[in-house]
Amino acid sequence: MTTPQKTILTGDRPTGPLHLGHYVGSLANRVRLQHEYRTFVLIADIQALTDNFDRPEIVRQNTLEVMLDYLAVGLDPERVTFVLQSLVPEIHELAIHYLNMVTLARALRNPTVKSEIQERREREGGSDIFGEQFDIPLGFLIYPIHQAADITAFDADLVPVGEDQLPMIEQAREVVRRINNYYGEGTLREPEGLVGEQPRLPGIDGKAKMSKSLGNAIYLKDPAAEVERKVRMMFTDPNRVRADIPGRVEGNPVFIYHDAFNPNREEVEDFKARYRAGKVGDVEVKNSLARALNEILEPMRARRADWEQRLPAVEQMLLDHTARARATSAAVLDRLRERMGLRPLRAG
Ligand code: TRP
Repeated sequence: MTTPQKTILTGDRPTGPLHLGHYVGSLANRVRLQHEYRTFVLIADIQALTDNFDRPEIVRQNTLEVMLDYLAVGLDPERVTFVLQSLVPEIHELAIHYLNMVTLARALRNPTVKSEIQERREREGGSDIFGEQFDIPLGFLIYPIHQAADITAFDADLVPVGEDQLPMIEQAREVVRRINNYYGEGTLREPEGLVGEQPRLPGIDGKAKMSKSLGNAIYLKDPAAEVERKVRMMFTDPNRVRADIPGRVEGNPVFIYHDAFNPNREEVEDFKARYRAGKVGDVEVKNSLARALNEILEPMRARRADWEQRLPAVEQMLLDHTARARATSAAVLDRLRERMGLRPLRAG
C-alpha cells in the first residue's frame, strides 16, 4: 500500500503576464512538486474581477496568457489539472457558507488586504466621509474568503504561493477549523502554505517587490534582448559611481538575483568578493546575470512558441480540465451541504 497522494491547489489572477517574482515565489515549487502531488492550478478570473470589474476584457485577454505562462514554465498538462474559476459554481456556494464564519473585523484585519486597500486609495483616491474602510467594494473585501473556497473545493493539503499570500492561507485555515467545528471534523481539509526559497524578489528598480503595477518586472515571456536591457537598467549600489569603489552586496538586487538564478555558485561568490573590494564593474556582473536568466528563460520561450501555434487547443485544454476538476469540487460541496442538513442538489 502506498500512502494516499496529497493534493496541491494554487493559482493566479489573470491580470497580466507572469514574471520572475512569480517564478521564485511559487511557480518553481509547482513545477517541482507536480511529480509528487495531485496538482490543481487555478486561474482566478472571478477574483481578478474584484479589482477589474470595470474592465472585464483585461481578465478575459489574460486568461490564455496565463495558461501559456503555465505551459511555458513547465507545468505538464498530463500531470496538472488546470481550472478556470468562473466555470466552477461550487466555489461560489462554498464561499457563501464561509462568509458566516468570518467577522467584518477579521476581514478588515487581513494584512495583505489592508495594504491592497492602501494602494487602491493612493491610486484612485477615496472619500473619507464614511471613514477609512467604507468605500471598498464588498467583493474586494471578501476575496480572501472566496479564495478559501478555491483552496478547500479541491481538498488541498498544500498551497504553493508567494509570501504576500500567507495571510490568505491563514484565513482559509481559520474558516476550515470553524466549519469543522460546527459541522463535524473532516468536513473540510485544512491546507498549509508553501513559499519559495527566495519568497520575495525585489523589482529591477530595487523596490521591495517585483510587480506589474510598479513597472519593475522581468516577464517570463520577455525576449532575450529585453531581459538584457532590463538587467542593464537594474538598480545596484547607488554610492558606487565607479567600478573601483567598494560596493555593497547585501540588499543589492543584482546579487539577490544572482543568488536566486545563477547556478554557478563559484562565479557568484567571486563576483561578491570582487564587488566588495571594488575590483569588478557592474557591467560584468550584469552581463553574467542576464546570461543566467536567459538560460532559465530560453526553454520557456521554446515551449511557449510551441503552444502559441495551438491556441485553440490550449483553450480547449482549460475547458476539459475544468470539467474534470468539478468532480472534486462537487463532491466537497455535497459533503458540506449534507453535514449542514441542506437538501442534496441532485436527486437520487
Ligand atoms: N490571490 C492570489 C494572487 O493574487 C491568486 C489566487 C486565487 C490563489 N485563488 C488562489 C492562490 C488559491 C492560491 C490558492 O496571487
